[in-house]
Amino acid sequence: MLIEKLEKIKEEAEKAIKSATTSEALYQVKVQFFGKQGQLSLLMKELGSLPKEERPQFGQQVNGVRGGLQAQYDESEGRLKKQELNEKLKREVLDLSLPGPAQDQGAIHPIPRVIGEIVDILSRIGFSVRSGPMIENDHYNFTALNIPENHPARDMQDTFYVEGGSVLRTHTSPVQIHTMENEKPPIRVLAPGGVFRCDSDASHSPNFHQIEALLVDKKVSMAELKGTISFFVKEFFGPEIKTRFRPSFFPFTEPSAEVDCSCPLCKGKGCRMCSQTGWIEIGGSGLVHPNVLSQAGIDPDEWQGFAFGFGIERMAIIKYGINDIRLFVENDLRFLRQFEL
Ligand code: PHE
Repeated sequence: MLIEKLEKIKEEAEKAIKSATTSEALYQVKVQFFGKQGQLSLLMKELGSLPKEERPQFGQQVNGVRGGLQAQYDESEGRLKKQELNEKLKREVLDLSLPGPAQDQGAIHPIPRVIGEIVDILSRIGFSVRSGPMIENDHYNFTALNIPENHPARDMQDTFYVEGGSVLRTHTSPVQIHTMENEKPPIRVLAPGGVFRCDSDASHSPNFHQIEALLVDKKVSMAELKGTISFFVKEFFGPEIKTRFRPSFFPFTEPSAEVDCSCPLCKGKGCRMCSQTGWIEIGGSGLVHPNVLSQAGIDPDEWQGFAFGFGIERMAIIKYGINDIRLFVENDLRFLRQFEL
């Protein structure tokens, strides 16, 4: 009898709905009993075996059972889903105080880093940055800097010559000329950048960096040059570092002086870094030669200037205790990572 089958399905389905402990199990009950291919649907297919007049009534009974089951299903489903969500929330507590996934920190290469530090320090006393080409002509790299042709000073510089008579600039001093040609004094500029010399060993790289400083004003003396450099050295290396000036020669400055600072590693006592002298050379300096001013269109009777040029690698080596200049260009991550911020 179909009606008994219907009763049986109803009973079993109700039991199964009650005993389902997860929403997934509950859903399987629905599939089995009153889903599209479930037992109720199969029962409907047997409708044809009933006498015609009983069919509508039985159909209604089946639909009634289906509706009742669906209501119980909905009730259970709501309860189970809520329970499951609560369990999930308990299980997956979000601890907002935990640190996030670690991220690799980048590092600024020591050369641009040192340039940035120097520019920061000197910009506090009024200097601002200029740049010039790395491929220069003979005029800017030498002649305008009071180094005429065949002058022995040209040998000091181990020049790389480029086809067509140009040179790779051997120092940043040509930027002095470009600046004086383009700007009216008073001038206070810095020119950091790459320079090139035909030279290569543990302490010389064919491509290294310098920072040039040029000041032009009405009255400029060695005292101001020394004061500026001493201030800079203390700011850069630390207040205990002393500065020493040794008389020297550059064609573009007169008088000229080489600049040493007391060795930051041994505090001047003498060590390997300073070759036991207690002092380390960081660059050249001097008062701008009158010929250089007039070459660049500035009247040396009205204006005076000082200039200095420091080696960036040199300064980085001293500040960070680096023992080989080639490390700067080898891209060894073990070296570079030490400069992570
Ligand atoms: N240009 C010089 C060099 O490369 C350094 C220097 C710059 C000296 C400015 C005096 C003044 O050695």
